[in-house]
Order: sequence, then C-alpha cells, then structure tokens
Amino acid sequence: MHPITCANEEDGLDHHQEPSKSCNLCPRLFDFRQINQTNHTDWFNAPVPSFGADDPQLLIIGLAPGLKGANRTGRPFTGDFAGILLYQTLIKYGFAQGVFDERIDDGLKLVNCKITNAVRCVPPENKPTPVEIKTCQQFLKNTLSAQKKLKVIVTLGKIAHDSLLDALGFKKSLYPFGHESIHHLKTTMLNDIVLISSYHCSKYNTSTKRLTEEMFHKVFEKASFFLK
Ligand code: URA
Repeated sequence: MHPITCANEEDGLDHHQEPSKSCNLCPRLFDFRQINQTNHTDWFNAPVPSFGADDPQLLIIGLAPGLKGANRTGRPFTGDFAGILLYQTLIKYGFAQGVFDERIDDGLKLVNCKITNAVRCVPPENKPTPVEIKTCQQFLKNTLSAQKKLKVIVTLGKIAHDSLLDALGFKKSLYPFGHESIHHLKTTMLNDIVLISSYHCSKYNTSTKRLTEEMFHKVFEKASFFLK
C-alpha cells in the first residue's frame, strides 16, 4: 500500500495545481518510477510539468511522457522521436522560437502556446490504464482552468482527445475523435474553445504513414487560422 501524497503538499499553497515530484496517486506508475530512479539515477524520473508560454491561446495535449524522452529530460516531447516533428512544426508556424536540440537547455521558447500531457508520469509500454488517465485528470483540469486566454486546443491522439472531453464534462460520443476534426466547445470552465484533434505524432504513426508531415502541418495551419 502506498500512502497517498498528492500535489505540492510541501509548498502550502496550490495543493492540486501540479503533481508533486513524488506523487503516488497511481501505484503502478509510482512503482515504475522507482525502478527507473534506481536504474537511471541521472534521469528526470518524475511527473513531467507542462512547458510553454504563460497565458497562451494554444494548448497542445499529448499522451504521456516517453520513457527515454520526457521522462529522461523533464520536458514534454523532448528526447524522443515524437518531439522532432512536433517542435519543428511549432517553429514552422511561429508557435516556437529558437532551435530544438532535444535538450531542456536548448533555449527553445514556445510562443503563445503550451504543451502538457493527459498523463504526467511515464507509463510502462507507453500505455496508461483508464484509471490512471482518470486519476491524472485532476492535473489536466488544473492546467486548463489556469489558462485564461485559451482559444484553441490541439489534442494528439484519441486518449488526449477523450480525456480532455471528460475533464470538461462533455459527452465523448457527441464529439468524436478524427484527424483534423474540429469541434466548437462551449465551456463553463474556459472561454469558448476550438478543439482540433490530430493523430499522435508518434514514431509508429509517422513510420506507417498514418500521419504524414503534411497532415500534421494542416492541424497547425488550422490552429493558426482560428487564432487570427
Ligand atoms: N512525449 C510526451 O511528452 N508526450 C507524448 O505524448 C509523447 C512523447
């Protein structure tokens, strides 16, 4: 049994804002983290915080940190294959400035954009369970409610899409997932939001051509259009 320690209890302020570095709400993810901490003492090995601009109009929601990517480096989509297409696309469409060098000290800055994950801890085999996704939703909700100027959300993959709808209290069947699908969401928590769904930019999806560079670019072309 793991005693439940939750978000940032030590700071006395923002109890459920971000998961603490030792969050153990998901026993399986906690155990996996401990193994990684033992085997890779120089890795980040903690819930990966959101990255990007303060008060952005665009939020991108990924799935979960990759073992040797965000879980190693501590920044979403940094250090594994999925990040290369994502950050290059963000630079192309003006949502990032600088050079993406797959290191958290590469100086890359996001512009009017933030990246977060539906699940903040690395899951074994890249597959969070439904309970883990639900448990981590409290942190997704916190991230959402803190973005006062948000207009567009891009979800990467069906898990992020469904978790966002669930976090906002929308019926998933009314807002089906599809690549480049667009849904207009009238929310109480946020302003009215345009949700653009995309296939995840994973190595699997790009190497099987389920997602091509052109298809991914179109998603961000649309995001730029709705932010004009
Ligand atoms: N890295 C992340 O941070 N999120 C993903 O969804 C994939 C890789």
